[in-house]
Amino acid sequence: MERICSQLDQLMSHDLVGGVVETIGTTIAVGGFPAPVGSVVEIQRQSGKPLAGEVVGFRGELTLVFPLEQLSGVRQGSSVRLIRTMRSIPVGDSLLGRIVDAHGNCIDGFPHPALTMRSPMDQDPPIATSRPRIHETFSTGVRAIDGMLTCGDGQRIGIFAGSGVGKSVTLGMMAKYASSEVNVIALIGERGREVNDFIERDLGPEGMARSVVIVATSDQPAIMRVQAAMAATSIAEYFRESGRRVLFMMDSVTRFAMAQREIGLAAGEPPTTKGYTPSVFAMLPKLVERTGRSAQGSITAFYTVLVEGDDTNEPVSDAVRGLLDGHVILSRAIAAKGHYPAIDILASISRLMNDLVSEETRRAAQTIRELMSTYRENEDLINIGAYRQGTNPQIDLAIRMRSEIDTFLRQAMEEKSSVAAAQQQLLQLAAKCGARPIPNAAALAKAKRQTQQAGA
Ligand SMILES: Nc1ncnc2c1ncn2[C@@H]1O[C@H](COP(=O)(O)OP(=O)(O)O)[C@@H](O)[C@H]1O
Ligand SMILES: [Mg+2]
Repeated sequence: MERICSQLDQLMSHDLVGGVVETIGTTIAVGGFPAPVGSVVEIQRQSGKPLAGEVVGFRGELTLVFPLEQLSGVRQGSSVRLIRTMRSIPVGDSLLGRIVDAHGNCIDGFPHPALTMRSPMDQDPPIATSRPRIHETFSTGVRAIDGMLTCGDGQRIGIFAGSGVGKSVTLGMMAKYASSEVNVIALIGERGREVNDFIERDLGPEGMARSVVIVATSDQPAIMRVQAAMAATSIAEYFRESGRRVLFMMDSVTRFAMAQREIGLAAGEPPTTKGYTPSVFAMLPKLVERTGRSAQGSITAFYTVLVEGDDTNEPVSDAVRGLLDGHVILSRAIAAKGHYPAIDILASISRLMNDLVSEETRRAAQTIRELMSTYRENEDLINIGAYRQGTNPQIDLAIRMRSEIDTFLRQAMEEKSSVAAAQQQLLQLAAKCGARPIPNAAALAKAKRQTQQAGA
């Protein structure tokens, strides 16, 4: 089938040639060129090599092409040739350990591997009814997630965080310690320096060995950033369909959405929610639905979402949250205390956890959550010394267990963990807090009033 498609492509591409009519902002309008959306085209220039572009839409009789490089050298009447109607990228096992761009070209300075297979960039997600249920745990290697927010093999989770609170480090730890056979990591819209830092510091040779990294930096055209996200998903699909357990990470889906907004606006879409165009909200589900489990293998996926300030109700956050089976919130306040990974357990959730773990583990996690919540509610009182020990057994216990819970949740970058180890430690920890009955909310509120009065 793939061969037939590419032959068809070749037949069509030999024939279809159009001419540049005008430029509209950063897009090029081409006349006499009925190529379908998504087609790859080449625009001849006055001098130098032809400019690559992609068909993004139409206006009247004109076909709109978004260039992959600077426009310079393009003039009115420049000829535009169709190269391929279907975008695909070369794939194969020899991509492991390599860094590639949105088109699958290796950009790590080593020779390009010989790859004979191609995988389509746009692909429909597996049919809902053919998707096996998620019933096995996925070991991320991050203890706080494995213990308190256990994830399933094929689950999709969002990591919501501002900049500098530990996204890259956390993703790097997963790449090194997770139970995946293959990691596919998409770095979308980061600065070049951040990319190098991630590859050298966070991923290291250990993580890199079983990873493919797909990069489109912030200085590349919007279309390359969108395509890198699709290419990465496509590479992950190739590994999944060859039967592997894949860990997929995209940092960040927000930058992907911003790039798509830029293309949408250039193609004349109206800005709707906070300047985002409708195509952004049409593309997000198409993108994230492609990961997950299929009959052959699984793609467990983590998508990072940038949250600026405390604005977690930003439209991309909202859309992504609704599409995924859980979210991990990284908190600046927690990071500021030097507590890493800075996961706000109480604000995070894995929607599949209860289906995946034993009743005992579920209860243990619940016990720890309740103690953390009790501590947080009374933190101000405790900190100013207004809480009198002995007033409330639950608060006493929360204070007593606090440092052990913190030790359990903290993890240095170079410290390995697994879901089995995390669950075992969680059970031990809960056993230390366990036997005591948990007072009801009314009793807690009363204790709080009493301590407040005592403090006043
Ligand atoms: N698990 C950790 N242990 C110790 N320090 C950490 C950990 N995670 C993050 N950090 C600290 O936070 C800084 C920023 O983390 P980084 O992952 O680069 O943030 P982001 O990708 O969200 O911008 C790191 O340079 C490091 O000092
Ligand atoms: Mg980062």
